[in-house]
Amino acid sequence: MSDFIVLNKKISQFNKTISISGDKSISIRWILFASLGSGISKSKNLLMSEDVLAAINAIKKLGIKVKFNKNECKIYGRGFNGYTYKQNLSIDCKNSGTLGRLILGLLIDSPNSIKLIGDKSLSKRDFKRISDPLTKFGAKFKLKKFKNLPLSVIGSKNLKPIRYNENKGSAQCKSAVIFAGMRANGTTIIKAKKSRNHTELLCKYLNLPIKVKNKKNYDEIKVDKVKKIQPLNYNIPSDISSGAFFIALTVLVNNSTLIIKNVNINSSRTGIIIILKRMGIKIYYINKKIYKGERVADIKIISPKSIKAINCPSNINSKAIDEFLVIFLIAAKAKGVSYFKNLTELNHKESPRLEWGNKILNLMGVKTIKTEHSIKIYGNPNLKINKKIEIKNYLKDHRVFMTSVIAASSFGGTWRIFDKNSIKSSFPNFLKILNEMKK
Ligand code: S3P
Repeated sequence: MSDFIVLNKKISQFNKTISISGDKSISIRWILFASLGSGISKSKNLLMSEDVLAAINAIKKLGIKVKFNKNECKIYGRGFNGYTYKQNLSIDCKNSGTLGRLILGLLIDSPNSIKLIGDKSLSKRDFKRISDPLTKFGAKFKLKKFKNLPLSVIGSKNLKPIRYNENKGSAQCKSAVIFAGMRANGTTIIKAKKSRNHTELLCKYLNLPIKVKNKKNYDEIKVDKVKKIQPLNYNIPSDISSGAFFIALTVLVNNSTLIIKNVNINSSRTGIIIILKRMGIKIYYINKKIYKGERVADIKIISPKSIKAINCPSNINSKAIDEFLVIFLIAAKAKGVSYFKNLTELNHKESPRLEWGNKILNLMGVKTIKTEHSIKIYGNPNLKINKKIEIKNYLKDHRVFMTSVIAASSFGGTWRIFDKNSIKSSFPNFLKILNEMKK
């Protein structure tokens, strides 16, 4: 089957209500916590994507039984110390940074060496940011070129607690150290720049010995040794990072309205909402509720008559880190020049996304000024594309593919967009939902 699509027609105005798939960050975390539970955990609406299936396969390799029945997933946890570490174990994290990084925090008590591998994109990403703190607990790592996958880790049964300063705003680093701290003898103290806090909320819901103090610019997290984790039933809410593509489509297609049902609106994830509101766009939360410590709501978006440019404060960056590519598209249609800065972390994603965001805009004919960590976007409220554009991201980044599809569907032109299969990692029914918007 060909791995590209050709798009040459804009989407016309719509008024729709849609449901999208489960949150990826929460799905992977639920799998890991459930695998450590003493008994059976069940979830509904688990994201059925390659990243999440890689997490399922990883825990199966560690001796945990998993069963699927329609929309339900059952994990038969064997307790906090219930993993079996076979000789010559190799775990394939495919495209998933979240799985690769978080699981290392749990593997550091393995008496045998475990190999971690991933696809081409994951094999280019920085794992030293995880192996450095985990080495201090007492684990030993060997990494390709001292920082990449494949890596091998061998753990210890006598793990020392550490003090760790997480200063990148990376929830993956923070979560890996929280997991490792749960296995160490004593209190691990983390000073973490603000980032998504699903791990902490799950720990709180499960009554684990983890204390979080929210300071103005960082969180202080104290983690004590965990003895037992209860099983956890969970209805996974929808993923705002997947919803973001359809939020952007609604903003960019005149006279349209969209409701996305039951989305996770944890305030550490809603940077796109904050940014778009500042750009003058009407977005509302309906049916707000709290579910197991997470905020959930339906999101309603109404396409605007005009879009204001933004000078985006960088303290919003981590809350919108996976959404910048589509935010850039919206800035391309704004009146005036938008500015986004301190975005070094964007180049540490599945592909260098600041580079790719800039590249897509330039191919669209949008003027930009980009530095190593910032981008100025010269918006044009009348932006229309009449030319041929081809997008081929050699690291097959799912969000580059989906952003290009949204650009083609809103601005016109003839686009040939490669790496269609990349959507399987995070949002397999993306194109199906897009087609629903056309009916
Ligand atoms: C994630 C954290 C973020 C985000 C990624 C998912 C998580 O990465 O970009 O898609 O689930 O913890 P970093 O932790 O590298 O910032």
